[in-house]
Parts: sequence; C-alpha cells; structure tokens
Amino acid sequence: MANPLFRKKSISGLLNAQSKGRALKKELGALDLTLLGIGAVVGTGIFVLTGTAALTAGPALILSFVIAGLACLFAALAYAEFASTVPIAGSVYTYTYTTLGEFIAFIIGWDLVLEYLLAVSAVSVGWSGYFQSLLSGFGVHIPIAFTSAPGTIPGTTTYFNLPAFLIVILITFLLSVGVKQSKRANNIMVMMKVAVVLIFIAVAGRYVKPANWDPFMPFGFNGVFEAAALAFFAFIGFDAIASAAEETKNPKKDLPIGILSSLFICTLLYVTVSAVMTGVVPYQKFEGIANPISLPLQVSGQNWVAGIIDLGAILGMTTVMLVMLYGQTRITFSMSRDGLLPSILSDVHKKYRTPFKVTWLVGLIAALMGAFISLDELAQLVNIGTLSAFILISVAVIVLRVKQPDLRRAFRCPAVPLIPGLAILFCGFLIFQLGTATWIRFAIWLAIGVVIYFSYSQKQSKLNNDK
Ligand code: ALA
Repeated sequence: MANPLFRKKSISGLLNAQSKGRALKKELGALDLTLLGIGAVVGTGIFVLTGTAALTAGPALILSFVIAGLACLFAALAYAEFASTVPIAGSVYTYTYTTLGEFIAFIIGWDLVLEYLLAVSAVSVGWSGYFQSLLSGFGVHIPIAFTSAPGTIPGTTTYFNLPAFLIVILITFLLSVGVKQSKRANNIMVMMKVAVVLIFIAVAGRYVKPANWDPFMPFGFNGVFEAAALAFFAFIGFDAIASAAEETKNPKKDLPIGILSSLFICTLLYVTVSAVMTGVVPYQKFEGIANPISLPLQVSGQNWVAGIIDLGAILGMTTVMLVMLYGQTRITFSMSRDGLLPSILSDVHKKYRTPFKVTWLVGLIAALMGAFISLDELAQLVNIGTLSAFILISVAVIVLRVKQPDLRRAFRCPAVPLIPGLAILFCGFLIFQLGTATWIRFAIWLAIGVVIYFSYSQKQSKLNNDK
C-alpha cells in the first residue's frame, strides 16, 4: 500500500457503498437546495457587517461585494463539479478524499469544522444584536451583563451573550429531531427574509440621493479590497448545499442548480442593498451602528418598515444558523464514518434518522463560542477557514481532471484550469487582506488538527481495512 497520507477513497466505491444502516434519508430537491443556499447565505454579513464594510470602502462597497462574489462564483463552479460527481455527505472533505488523499482531506475537513462551527457562533452574535433591539422596541431590556461576550463593550462588565447562546440551543434541538421539520421551517423563513430585503430596496430606494455616492471610493482600492475580505463573510454558506448531497433526491442535477442559483440571487441582492444603503445615508454615519440595514429607513422616517426589517433580519439569521449547523454536523458525521474521528459521532438516531449525538455536541460548542467571543474575531476566522477550503477545492478540480479525465461529471466546471485558477487567485488575495492575529489562530487550529491526524485518525481510518 502506498503512503497512507495519500491513500484515497474510490469514487465508485463510495457511490455503491453508502454504508448500510448509516445512510441518511433522501428528501431534498433543487428548490429546497436553492432555499437552503439562500438560507445559509443572507444573514449577519448583509444585516450587520455591511456597516463596518461601508466605513472601510465607502460607497465602493458595491465593488467589494462584486469582488467577493466573483471569488465565490469561481469557487462555486468548482464546487458544483465535485458536488455532481461525488454526491455523498461531507462536502469538499469527501471530494478531496477521492482526489488529493487522506491527509489533505482530513485537513480540509478540520478546516470546515472550524468554518461552520464558528459561522454559527458569529451569526448568533449578530442575531442577538437585532433581537435585543427588537425587544427594546417593546420596552424589554436584558440585563447588560448578559448581552455580550466579555470585554466587548468598553467600560462595561459583560459576562456572556445569553440570547446568542439560547438561539443556538433552540436550533440544535430543531436539527436533532429531523431534517424534515427544520427544512420546512427553513423554507418559510428564507422566503420571508428575501421579502424583507426586497421591501428594504423598494422603500429605501426612493430616498437615494446620488450625491451620497460622491466620493465613490474615499479610501481607494485598499479600502475596497479590505472591505471585500470582510464582505466575503456575507457569501459564505452556499457551499453548505454541497454538504447535503447524500440527502438530495437527484444530486447530479439538483446540486449545481442549487449552488449557482442561490449565489446569483444573493449577489444581486447585496449589490442592490449596498447601493441603496450608501445612497440614502452618507457612509460615515454607519459608525457604531448595530443594525445598519434599518438605519436608512429610520433616517427617512420609515420607522415601521425599519421594525419589519429588524424582524426579517432575525428570521434571516436564524436560517443561516440552521444551515451552517446542519453542514457542520454532516461533515463531522462523514469524517467519523470514515474512522478519522471517533465513531460515536456518526451514530444515527433510530427514531429521527439524524446524527443526533454529533448535532448536540457541535451545537453546544457553537452556543458557547457565540456566548463568549466577539463577532469580529469569529467572522475573520470563519473567512480564513472558508477561503482556504475554496482554494483546496479548486486545486482538487484541476487534479481530478488530469488524473481521471473520463470520470462521468453531471456538471462540468467551464474553462478548466482557468476558472479554478481564478478562484485560487481571488481567494488567495482575500486571505492576504486578513489580520495577523487571524492567521496565527488559524495556524494553531491547523496544528491541533495535524496532531489529531497522526495520533488518532491515521491509525483508525477505515481505509486500513483495504490493505
Ligand atoms: N453568509 C452568512 C451570513 O452573512 C454566513 O450570515
């Protein structure tokens, strides 16, 4: 047997052997996947982080979204090719296992564990901000000590973010009792949040003053690029669709449709929203604003619409957490099923047919991280983890084309190696816009993964049985 670092799972073997007794129910179609994608994508990025990004780029935030969107588009085309070729739970982790070998697959899986886990936590913090603002509209105030992570409000003692903690626990419960219930709830909330964004565009759009777009690029291209690295967070999530492959009725067709259509719709919404935001309110006014999408409506005297937007943002961020936690548990499930993580993590609940134990384990950790860490720190780590994953998947597409040119692909990424090459270039560029602290934290996380791989996973891997 060759070096275990590079041993690979065979794609045909995978397709034939969706391990009996550990297989998940197939019940998702193309529309469900598109909604799952939008559900994962439109959230804290657009509802909370746009304020910070507008301060960094000015009205040219529009360009930042286009750059981040292009990086995602190129990566999405690569994702779609793999998703349609290897329709097994586990997303890019499984795909790299069939192409680049076990070690890289483990690392990418480990990387995605970080991405999805912390994305749930980051979004729970954004959710908590809007929730508190809505509650205060009804005169209800949570004691300040329980509204934020420690050290996030200068001069005030805060212990932890209670609403952020509780919402993740609720979502964990929904997911642990079954895909069907949570999918239905997800679909309704996604439609409501898209409606709310459209209402924002229609109402606030009437108050746009083109003079606010001048100067368009007050901080030059540096500001635009820095904001793009942050705005990237707003696109994260469409890749979670690929994690649902095993539960999709017709994955070869439905997955590419779901990924590409949700990405297209979201880009259109973001560009329009940022044009309207910066057109109604001069960008400097977003300093310290926790609900930047409501601000343009408030200053235009549309307070009741602003209230609706608050509610829509809360629902919107709820769906993001649902999809992210869902994706997270499916990746951990796959890694465990392959022997790379303890087998208890791939137990399927007899009644609910869900990975019940892993859902609760991951949900609890995500809830605690959201309660104790700030949004900025969480979002930056999510971005570096995701960008690295996108780079690896793009490399994998090129490798698979060379090594297995005849493999049947229901969806083929156009212009290989140009498109995956552009994905590598754009994502690599965005990674370099992130701070040193983020790089260091990410390196520590990867180092822990390497230790686990060599001390546990390599010995326990199911591929050892193939010898
Ligand atoms: N894209 C997701 C959001 O904006 C993670 O909340």
